[in-house]
Amino acid sequence: MPGGCRDHRFGTGGRAFEWRGVSMITLDTKLLRPHLGDDDIAHEMPHAIEALRSILRRECVQADMLGWLDLPGTGTREIGAIADTAKRIQDENDCLVVIGIGGSYLGARAAIEALPDSARFPVHFAGNNLSPEYHERLLATLSGKRFTLCVISKSGTTTEPAVAFRILKAKLIEAFGSDHINNRIIVITDPSAGALRSIAGTEGYMVFPIPPGVGGRFSVLSAVGLVPCAVAGISIREMLRGAEAALGRYSKPLAENDALRYAVIRNLLHRRRCAVEVLSTFHPELTYLCEWWKQLAGESEGKKGKGLYPASAVMTTDLHSLGQYLQEGARIMLETFLVATEPRRDIAVPPDTDDLDNLNYLAGRPMSEINRKAFEGTVDAHASGGLPVLSIEVPVINVEAIGSLFVFFEMSIAVSGLMLGINPFDQPGVEEYKRRMFNLLGKPGVE
Ligand code: PA5
Repeated sequence: MPGGCRDHRFGTGGRAFEWRGVSMITLDTKLLRPHLGDDDIAHEMPHAIEALRSILRRECVQADMLGWLDLPGTGTREIGAIADTAKRIQDENDCLVVIGIGGSYLGARAAIEALPDSARFPVHFAGNNLSPEYHERLLATLSGKRFTLCVISKSGTTTEPAVAFRILKAKLIEAFGSDHINNRIIVITDPSAGALRSIAGTEGYMVFPIPPGVGGRFSVLSAVGLVPCAVAGISIREMLRGAEAALGRYSKPLAENDALRYAVIRNLLHRRRCAVEVLSTFHPELTYLCEWWKQLAGESEGKKGKGLYPASAVMTTDLHSLGQYLQEGARIMLETFLVATEPRRDIAVPPDTDDLDNLNYLAGRPMSEINRKAFEGTVDAHASGGLPVLSIEVPVINVEAIGSLFVFFEMSIAVSGLMLGINPFDQPGVEEYKRRMFNLLGKPGVE
């Protein structure tokens, strides 16, 4: 077998299957066996099932923040209004600027970057940092363009998007005049509270509400993610279809539920020795899905001195930077591979008569095969280096798979957080930097 791993111990997608017509995620845990046995997982599973039941009965800690469970269904009701707005924005503009940070940013960006074939309408992001250079470059990019702002903030008071909104609104006024900007501003915020809500009411901006029981990092399937995705050109109907199928599948209080198995594995390995989980992908277009996952896991679980620190790696790029550490560094990590079985498109390696680079053994072979072998070889290498490794695999990266992955991870991390004994739905630690920053900036009323 030229150029490949001889031992295909990891699944090559043969187990991928459909559920209600939607291709589903498979969790491959074979190579975990030196670290965790099936009996370890079975022994811990009742705790995961109990945590899931407490979520489904809406009896867990902070059960008022379980509104994300309803989004695949309620999102469907909003589709018409969102689709009409998206069409108008596409017809009247050259691009959209999405202003938001954290949960009001990462989900939309994750989907848009993952689906470049669908997301063809240009979307820019602002307010996700306080870099003047970044925003100055964005202003330069917008010069001479017709654009609309989509301002997203659940609280309506977050500094980064508020500052960016002021700057970009001034740019809108400069470009179109103050009497002609209202139909170029869309607000996504709490239905009744917060500064952004009152600004929108006073100015008459179009508003899409974020349901009160939906926290930022669980909000991607609300207007927060759906509006930017729809404008970009992604079928939000298909995304919700994937999400709904996943919700049905991962709501089952059964030991075979892969969202529960993933939660159990994370908890057991964390208890034994792992401090870090690295989510590694071989698809650069999933870089922001990893970023979204990092927020979901980090803000949900990093409490009371507990929780796996969520990190990510994008291969094969990071094999040439982090690969050494993953292979031989401190054995404090669990590595979870997030991969697709099939490519969406392919390129063959061209033949070369001289073969001066000795690459003709790859001539005619698709790049996807080389990438796949890199994945299989890496899994094998890192497992042989003593890392606990598992893989989460989708048949192909498409819009339904992205919708499914959002729900798979939300359900799993919620269960995992409850198993850890923390509240996965709050983020008290995020406030500390804000208080100190406001103090340094002299914000009135802050000590
Ligand atoms: O998950 C969360 O709750 C946070 O990451 C928020 O999404 C983030 O802080 C932005 O908050 P807001 O939407 O209120 O501007």
